[in-house]
Amino acid sequence: MRYVDYSEEMPGSYEWWYFGDKHLGNIGYKRKPFSKFRVKVLSKKHAYAIDGGDGIEAITPDDRRFNIDAMDPAATRLDHQIEAETRELEPIASRIKAKLFGNHELTIIKKTNGINPAVEVCKNLGIKYPENVKPAFRGDKPLMGDSFTLKINLPTVRFLARHHMRNFTSRAQDEAMAEEHEARWVKNQLRPLAADCEVMVMFHVHKLRLRPPHQRLKMINDSATGKTRGVYPKPMRIPISKTQYHIPHDQVWYGSSGAWLGSYEEGITTYAELGGFPPTELGALRMIVKNDKLQYVEKVPFS
Ligand SMILES: [Fe+2]
Repeated sequence: MRYVDYSEEMPGSYEWWYFGDKHLGNIGYKRKPFSKFRVKVLSKKHAYAIDGGDGIEAITPDDRRFNIDAMDPAATRLDHQIEAETRELEPIASRIKAKLFGNHELTIIKKTNGINPAVEVCKNLGIKYPENVKPAFRGDKPLMGDSFTLKINLPTVRFLARHHMRNFTSRAQDEAMAEEHEARWVKNQLRPLAADCEVMVMFHVHKLRLRPPHQRLKMINDSATGKTRGVYPKPMRIPISKTQYHIPHDQVWYGSSGAWLGSYEEGITTYAELGGFPPTELGALRMIVKNDKLQYVEKVPFS
């Protein structure tokens, strides 16, 4: 993981998108919804984004998931997938402030002894870490796309984003309950990873889930008046030292981003179909900051 500080270069009001899992090279990549997403990002002057990984499909013939019929004939080769992802991101390249690698890139990193497709795409697009990201140890070369998890510091907002590895589908009979279980699972997976972030997001699960802060009424006593009254705790950073703080976990936004890969396709049998998975939720999460204050995070589905 790396810690990236953008606090010097952000405007007071902006939006920040969390998107990932394009899987270019898979025939199910949703080109049109993704172009609608790009239009939305470009429609705001101060809209930025993090790409959460699995940018390319990167499934090679030795992989048990390999299915030639599920591949885009124009991008079966790895280098063509990297080129395709570069082309898809190019119009919004100036808005992408960070990129992660996902488990799909990881298989290539392992097989090639270190070639990381996410890094290659960032090199093609000129997406770099800010100057303040220094090598963590001797011989380390920080290159955008080289991390599975990033903690990003913005003025008054700090967030953690990771690709993630596990997935969870609730078996609750009621759909609303299932969604609630899945959002809770997202929170439980992310919560132990950091205590100093207002927002924590994962990708990988191809589901749009969001667990907003929970504001529960608490009773307090005012020692001056002796009166008891109810208060709703406000989101706050509780100092540990001059430079460290923690945030109570019930005041954190937890979420998982959708994907841009359809799971059911006409004419082919996908893994999702064999497994009976629920359909992929296309879309992204959007964080709104106004006058240096985090307003909210929301799910933005696309179709
Ligand atoms: Fe993915």
